[in-house]
Amino acid sequence: MIKEIEKYKEILNNERFKSLKNFTAHGKTNIMEHSILVAKCGIKIIDKLKLKVNKDEYIKSALLHDFYFYDWHKAPKHTGLHGFTHSKIAADNAKEIFGINDRVYANILSHMWPLNITKIPKTKEGFILCVADKICSLKETFAKS
Ligand SMILES: [Fe+2]
Ligand SMILES: [Fe+2]
Repeated sequence: MIKEIEKYKEILNNERFKSLKNFTAHGKTNIMEHSILVAKCGIKIIDKLKLKVNKDEYIKSALLHDFYFYDWHKAPKHTGLHGFTHSKIAADNAKEIFGINDRVYANILSHMWPLNITKIPKTKEGFILCVADKICSLKETFAKS
């Protein structure tokens, strides 16, 4: 894991965060791994393009963007249509457990754009999160073994 992410011990060592290991994101990747990969991918984009953004808020948003505790493949009834509902569930959980600020909350809420067409990213960090999440999700879905 890259050093910039390792610093986020409050999140990485949290039991609820670690429990994300138990749920599949895409293919063989669990949600904890996926969240870390999205953080990493976004940092690469930020560094490569030399973007002036708030990295701290980006990393928190990425680590917590799928902070929900169920297997969406098994579609529990209370969650509604996963693609449209989980961003709010994750944002609310992240707020409750880590007391994230409003910008991070908004980034998590909008990470499914453009699928969730009305929740448009309001910050650069939120937009990068949308892109990084899609790149990682595709890679994980089509990864061999
Ligand atoms: Fe998501
Ligand atoms: Fe995701």
